[in-house]
Order: sequence, then structure tokens, then C-alpha cells
Amino acid sequence: MGFDFDRMAPSYDEHRQGKGPYYETLLGLLQAQQANRVLELGAGTGNNTLAIHADYPCALHALEPSRAMLQQARQKSKAICCLQGDAIALPYQADAFDFLYGTYMLHHITALDALMGECYRVLNKGSVAFVTVSEDFIQNHPMNAWFPSFAKVDLARFQPIDEVCATMEQAGFGSVQFKHTYSPPRAIDESYVNKVANKFITTYALLPEAEFKAGVAQLKEDVATPGKIKTTIVREATLVWGYKSAK
Ligand SMILES: C[S@@+](CC[C@H](N)C(=O)[O-])C[C@H]1O[C@@H](n2cnc3c(N)ncnc32)[C@H](O)[C@@H]1O
Repeated sequence: MGFDFDRMAPSYDEHRQGKGPYYETLLGLLQAQQANRVLELGAGTGNNTLAIHADYPCALHALEPSRAMLQQARQKSKAICCLQGDAIALPYQADAFDFLYGTYMLHHITALDALMGECYRVLNKGSVAFVTVSEDFIQNHPMNAWFPSFAKVDLARFQPIDEVCATMEQAGFGSVQFKHTYSPPRAIDESYVNKVANKFITTYALLPEAEFKAGVAQLKEDVATPGKIKTTIVREATLVWGYKSAK
């Protein structure tokens, strides 16, 4: 299903920020490779683009199909080269970059092989890295207790980590590996419920509306009952990366 990111763009940053638990590992990869020409795929409103540029000054490009999401990114910085486009038909020449990355955009891609092929084409030598989530994380997510279709919805669209690795290898990347990263536990409290009620991740937009409304109502009631919710949320993000070597 396609999402209307143009419509979501104005309020996207109210509930989503960059620099998730994967961030230090991603930054470490960039630093280790001393990459100069860097491209972010599916950059959205540029939350990670801006963070990376501040922590690792480089020739940073941001590709994003949604005009309105990209507009938000453009307004934040003139130092980043923003371009509207699709990651499975990259509007760049071969060997144009030393490092490619994308955060939480893989599950919007149906042709993973085409994406990896394009990444391989536009990389000179260097690394490609994607942030996504694992099947285990989806299956064990605490919100399954309030939204019975939560796992079903996300398992249908997030590619298994093994599949991401295999597709990277088929495209020609070597030393493909992944790392699960974790944020500190946070309480399921009013501010978390507010994010859920605002559908801060697209999962909630894909739930049947009646299930979504009932889940939010129950969650609000449980949060308001002292001692009712004993579980916390530990955000997990999986970074998958591989290398293209010199020709
Ligand atoms: C969940 S948002 C993540 C945005 C940003 N990377 C972040 O972490 O905040 C998913 C993004 O992927 C983008 N996207 C969807 N399909 C894409 C495609 N074919 N090529 C590039 N980006 C795509 C969407 O427009 C959206 O901005």
C-alpha cells in the first residue's frame, strides 16, 4: 500500500525524530570508511540527514519521493543536496557515491532486488546500510497486546533480515552483516499513547479503523490505571550493511 507522505509531511516531525538506537553504529560506519560523497535514500523530512551532516560533515545528498517531505528537509538546511526521486530508479550516475544509507524506508519498497541493484550501480566503492526492524521485534512488540493485527500488518511488509542480507549479496555486495541495536526502556505513558493515537508509525494507519480506535481507548484506560501496565517499550532497530569493493 502506498502512503500519502505529502499529507503526513507537515506533522511528521511532531512524533518522529532521527537518531534512533542505530545511530552510533551508522555514524561509526561512515567514520571508519572516511566516506565523502554520501547519499541518504528515503530521507523523509531530513531528521537523520541533518544529524549526520552535523556529526560527520561531508557532501551529503538526500533523495526522497515525496515533494512535501523533501520540502521540510530543504527548509532545515541549505547545505544538503535534496532531490525528489525513487530509490529503485536512482537519478544519479554510476559510481557517484562512497556511502549510501536509508532509515525505515525498506518496508516501503516492493522490488528489493531493484533497489539493491541501483545501490550497487551508484556506489563507487564503499558501503550501503539500511535501518529496519526484525521479525522478532515485530512479533514481541508490546503493542500486540492492544492491537491484535499489529504483527500481522508489519510482518506482511517488513522484509525478513535474512532476505535483506541475501538480496544485498545477490546484487554483488560482500561482507554483508547486521546488528540489532536497542534504546533504553521507556514507559508506556500518556506521551506514548499520544504518539500512537496520532499514528506516529504507518502500522497504525494499516490497522482496521475499528481495531485502532478500540486499542487506543483501552490503552488510554490502562495508562490511567496506576500499576496496570507493567511492561516497558524497548525500541529495537536493525542495521544491515554490506560493501562494494574497488573494481
Ligand atoms: C517512515 S518514512 C522514514 C523517513 C526517514 N528516513 C526517517 O527515518 O524519518 C519512509 C520514507 O520512505 C520514503 N519512500 C517510500 N517509497 C520510497 C521509494 N521508492 N524510494 C525512496 N524513498 C521512498 C517515503 O516517502 C518516506 O519519506
